[in-house]
This record gives sequence, structure tokens and C-alpha cells, in this order.
Amino acid sequence: MQHGIDQVLAKHSMIPVVTVNSKEETDIVMNRLLEQNIHVAEITLRTEYALTAIAHVKKNYPTIDVGVGTVISIGQVAPLVDLGVDFIVSPGATMDLITHLKDGTIPFIPGAVTPSEIMSGLEMGLTTFKFFPANLFGGIDALKAYGQVFPAVKFCPTGGINGTTHSDYLALSNVISVGGSWMLK
Ligand code: 3PG
Repeated sequence: MQHGIDQVLAKHSMIPVVTVNSKEETDIVMNRLLEQNIHVAEITLRTEYALTAIAHVKKNYPTIDVGVGTVISIGQVAPLVDLGVDFIVSPGATMDLITHLKDGTIPFIPGAVTPSEIMSGLEMGLTTFKFFPANLFGGIDALKAYGQVFPAVKFCPTGGINGTTHSDYLALSNVISVGGSWMLK
């Protein structure tokens, strides 16, 4: 099953996607989030500093739920278990990754943007997906259509969302939360 991710997302209507290269940058970003009363961050595994940043935030920012993004292979997962991260985000989904994560202890959300990808995920017991890059895969209109076809499926659209459009996404009944970097620009 895909335990826990709906509860994590329900707590946070906006998921900031954060890519950091140093402790200084991490502190600046986390404090900017806290100033906006945002208590979650998806830290991407796109920099050499990412794992150190995750450990730093877990230790020093106890009110922030720490997600880890850009997880694209099962080899990346073990250190995240050791770090006690709060959730895992993938831009897509492979059977290997889903199989590895769905019975694990960390809530996770894989990506799906086409009907076939959503159906493959449903076959594996998943019902909540990242929709990425949302602006390039049909955005709000696509999610409205998926609401008709897949009424049990929930999404966290991410990519190309901004301070104006995020509320339009959140108004959709099949959107739990929205991700992006607009709140840090
Ligand atoms: C990403 O993976 O970089 C996120 O989707 C952020 O996208 P954004 O910068 O377009 O919000």
C-alpha cells in the first residue's frame, strides 16, 4: 500500500521544491519558508550537498517535514531511511521503485502524467501521484479530465505553477496539494 502520503500532503497545501548547495543557502531557504508559515520542504537530490542538507534540516528544523525529491532509483533510498526523512517524491515511477517503496516505512509519491501510467500505478495499489511537469502535461485541463476518468486518484501537480495559478490547481477536487518553487522566488 501507499501508506501515509495522503496524510503528509493533507497537512501541507504547498510543497516547496528546494535545491540547495550549501549550509548557508539551506538556512536562508528554511527561514524563508518558516517566515511564510510553511513547514515542509521537498529537498531534491540534484546537488552533491543534498544529503547533508537533509540531515541538517532534520536536526535543526524540527517543525519542518522533510521530503526528498528527484528520487529516480532504488539505490538512492537506503540513505534516506537512515536519515529518517518524512516522505519521498519521484518525478516518475518504475515497477522496481514502486515495489521497493510501497511496503517500506517512508510515505512516497511517484509521478504519473498519462492515463496508462496512472492505470499502471492503480494496478500496483497506488492512488496518489505527483503530476510533473504539470504545465507541460496539460495542467488544470488534464487534471479536470482525469477527475472524470479516475475519480479515486489524487494528485500533487508540480512544475510551472506560480503564485497565481496555485489556487486554481488547489480548487480541483482531485488535487491534494501543489508543489513548486514560486514561494522562494
Ligand atoms: C522541480 O522539480 O524543479 C519543481 O517542479 C519545481 O518546478 P517550478 O520551479 O516550475 O515550480
